[in-house]
Amino acid sequence: MDMERRITEHPILGEIEKGRQVAFTYDGKTLYGCEGEPIAAALKAAGVMVHRYTKRAHKPRGIFCAIGRCTDCVMVVDGKPNIRTCVTPLREGMDVRTQYGVSAKKEM
Ligand code: FES
Repeated sequence: MDMERRITEHPILGEIEKGRQVAFTYDGKTLYGCEGEPIAAALKAAGVMVHRYTKRAHKPRGIFCAIGRCTDCVMVVDGKPNIRTCVTPLREGMDVRTQYGVSAKKEM
């Protein structure tokens, strides 16, 4: 697990406790994250910045609000599209895929 991109100690919050390491897949590739952290946090730690592409203009989107309000971070999780990854906890074995428009398929 890449800990260099993770916040492990915060000046106000103190030391941040993380869940156990779990494996999940991102577009078919196995990645690791901390159980219970937002899916988006695990993706960021792995260097993934693009979560979806817009339907009409095919523009890449990633984290914007990080509080579940904007939908820029939505992805296809376990076959279900439009999952806000910034507020959805990571679980062992999750299948996380880039969302193209409203599905995990590239044709839009
Ligand atoms: S980044 Fe805005 S809903 Fe997740």
